[in-house]
Amino acid sequence: MTALSLKGVNKSFGAVQVLKDINIDVEEGEFVVFVGPSGCGKSTLLRIIAGLEGPSSGTVSIDGTEVTRAAPSKRGIAMVFQSYALYPHLNVRGNMSLALKQEKQKKEIIEQRISKAARMLNLESYLDRYPSELSGGQRQRVAIGRAIVREPKLFLFDEPLSNLDAALRMNTRIEIANLHKQLSTSMVYVTHDQTEAMTLADKIVVLKDGLVEQIGSPMELYNDPCNQFVAGFLGAPSMNFLPASMINEGDNRTLGVRPEDLIIDDQGPLSVTVEHVEQLGGDTNLIVRSDDHQLTIRLFGQHNIKENAQIRLNYLSGKTFYFDADGSRV
Ligand SMILES: Nc1ncnc2c1ncn2[C@@H]1O[C@H](COP(=O)(O)OP(=O)(O)OP(=O)(O)O)[C@@H](O)[C@H]1O
Ligand SMILES: [Mg+2]
Repeated sequence: MTALSLKGVNKSFGAVQVLKDINIDVEEGEFVVFVGPSGCGKSTLLRIIAGLEGPSSGTVSIDGTEVTRAAPSKRGIAMVFQSYALYPHLNVRGNMSLALKQEKQKKEIIEQRISKAARMLNLESYLDRYPSELSGGQRQRVAIGRAIVREPKLFLFDEPLSNLDAALRMNTRIEIANLHKQLSTSMVYVTHDQTEAMTLADKIVVLKDGLVEQIGSPMELYNDPCNQFVAGFLGAPSMNFLPASMINEGDNRTLGVRPEDLIIDDQGPLSVTVEHVEQLGGDTNLIVRSDDHQLTIRLFGQHNIKENAQIRLNYLSGKTFYFDADGSRV
């Protein structure tokens, strides 16, 4: 069964159209990530799924039932926001039980669900604490716990990790992935972070300016992007682009090659100057320049290459992409 189906969804605020003919299906148990730059319409789309906002046209169906005009509470969804939005005057247990009490669930059921969620999220020893007595990561886990206890048909996450520092972001990301494995409930997750998209998603939806650019599994999008935007958005460091004419590969086209697919080769077609060396320990990134074009090369391991060195580059065959002037893949 399709857990969520968006058909022909448009949204305008006044004269500004922020979502344009969005068609997306989320299958049961699927983890779908909406990714795209700031302002592309991700949160608006999530709010339309949640029922916090109505579409200007188009339909939203959850579990096969159209809910376009249904109230949020009638949709069987639970949403987790970037700002944890916990009630400061309630302890962790109180925050997690509130929605269930409002639903008039039995006390035993509430207790059962809270202990199960607390176990999953490692919050068992914090149930009596207040939000002010928790770290940012713990608060976000409570916000996720509050969603879990409701046993929704669909989880919606809007940038749940962006208030956390880098290490905590990675831990919590892994926790969310594990949570999805344990619950196998469908999840829609919004982020502008391509790493989160690549690591969490079964299916990624890339959005730009209110339009769906491409939908596919992380590796489909990485290996076979339909245009220059998707090619440049997924992957870190991002794909290099340069005029194909620079390496005699034809005029009026752009060549794309990922940093890991560039190699140092004395016989290579491209001569560059090393501008900067980033030693990451496990990897080395070289930032190099040829004329007006800056490129990044990712080398495995440690390399003793000096800034200002002249080197020649080649690329792995079969690892190049070509794009038209309008950015579409050739
Ligand atoms: N209530 C509103 N009234 C008018 N314009 C709005 C409203 N809400 C959002 N917008 C506009 O719609 C566009 C999409 O906003 P949205 O919040 O969905 O972007 P986003 O992709 O979530 O961005 P971010 O990554 O910064 O959170 C933006 O240009 C925003 O200014
Ligand atoms: Mg947003």
